[in-house]
Amino acid sequence: MSINYQDRIPNNVDLGSNRTLQRALEHWQPEFLKWWEDLGPKDFQVADVYLRTATSVDAKGWATYGYVRMPEYRWGIFLNERDPNRRIGFGDNYGQEVWQQIPGEYRATLRRLIVTQGDTEPASVEQQRMLGHTAPSLYDLRNLFQVNVEEGRHLWAMVYLLHAYFGRDGREEAEELLERHSGDADKPRILGTFNEPIRDWLSFFMFTYFTDRDGKFQLKSLAESSFDPLARTCQFMLTEEAHHMFVGDTGINRVVKRSLEVMKELSSDDPQTIRNAGAIDLPTVQKYLNFWFTSSLDLFGSETSSNAASYFANGLKGRPDEAQYEDHVALDQTYSLELPDGSGGTKSEQIPMRNAMNEVTRNSYVRDCEMGVKRWNRLIEKAGYPFRLTLPSTRFRRNIGNWASVPTTPEGTPISTEQFNVHLHDWLPSEGDQAFILSVMHGVHEQGKMAAWIAPPDRGINNNPVDYEYVKSH
Ligand SMILES: [Fe+2]
Ligand SMILES: [Fe+2]
Repeated sequence: MSINYQDRIPNNVDLGSNRTLQRALEHWQPEFLKWWEDLGPKDFQVADVYLRTATSVDAKGWATYGYVRMPEYRWGIFLNERDPNRRIGFGDNYGQEVWQQIPGEYRATLRRLIVTQGDTEPASVEQQRMLGHTAPSLYDLRNLFQVNVEEGRHLWAMVYLLHAYFGRDGREEAEELLERHSGDADKPRILGTFNEPIRDWLSFFMFTYFTDRDGKFQLKSLAESSFDPLARTCQFMLTEEAHHMFVGDTGINRVVKRSLEVMKELSSDDPQTIRNAGAIDLPTVQKYLNFWFTSSLDLFGSETSSNAASYFANGLKGRPDEAQYEDHVALDQTYSLELPDGSGGTKSEQIPMRNAMNEVTRNSYVRDCEMGVKRWNRLIEKAGYPFRLTLPSTRFRRNIGNWASVPTTPEGTPISTEQFNVHLHDWLPSEGDQAFILSVMHGVHEQGKMAAWIAPPDRGINNNPVDYEYVKSH
């Protein structure tokens, strides 16, 4: 099979001139398409979807809009322009020239980092594959598919690096990225959150708000890498990631808005009354938020991590927005952690800053998450209700790190397991909550219509009206 690379795989890495790479990708591409057909969006493969496609990295070319059938989407390979003056921005080699090839001693570690990032991209497509059936509108259906094809492109971005810089090992890893599957008992995806099923749109919006935002911070860390092609790849991926978080942010905003409309109409904030009217009550929104936020917190890893310290020392993975820090070597600094003391209280511990890099990144992430919560609360406040959405403590419901399996309240106060179990379903979605959410998820695939549990968005895509025919099914 021969591929016209410029047409089929838009790229700015001169694919056409590298025979070895071409052969590797020619072998991988049909496997990718088979995966897309088997585990990508179910039942919409022949629909015409109004999608944006990146055809170059400049302002003009990175978002070209038009109707595309998803299997014909042009999954391109783009790296940000190379900055010939770029220097290593942190760690032991601070100030030296960045690497265009991988130093032998970091090969295995960098491969692992790229594979771990790459694994999340197809995983989320798999998690979301049934959601098309229950989309609340054509606008939302299109956004789902936009996120899905871009996660597919992010997989291409990582597979390009594996093929281009890791030889045979890289090619094998690229194949395994299509062999592990979300939730699979034998070959699950690498990270826990990416094995959680996403059965409903409230979870989808929480996932795109909280879990894609974890992606943003991972990409920001890798965008600092001394391995320049990885840094440039991640810089470009971040431009797309912004839309995924927008989908989550505005999605939750619209759920809250609709809930408030119904509360006002019925002059009630009783959750059951709101549910009876077909909207989602705010306490349930809080429970879903608690679940996905805490699940995403685990993705940053343990508070204390010698791996994180060596990634930083060796210049493989930095802090997000490394330029904002004064000391890029971070050798003499310490970080203060609040840890469980094992008898129901907490204790402070000072650890070397380099070992605390996961926690530093997690804290930046939490601050970023807070911005949306503030916006949603402004809506509630304006409507005159005392209810407020809140991010739980980073100690709550953790499965990784010092707080793993330590029962606490959402505010982070350690409590007994018994107390935790008593309140479990005040804090996290119960089976009843999940059943209710699923019960309002009916697909609305008619142009101009919107499901009853969500308000319409403020504006459409690419200056089109909200009721534009964003997806044409056949
Ligand atoms: Fe992604
Ligand atoms: Fe994403």
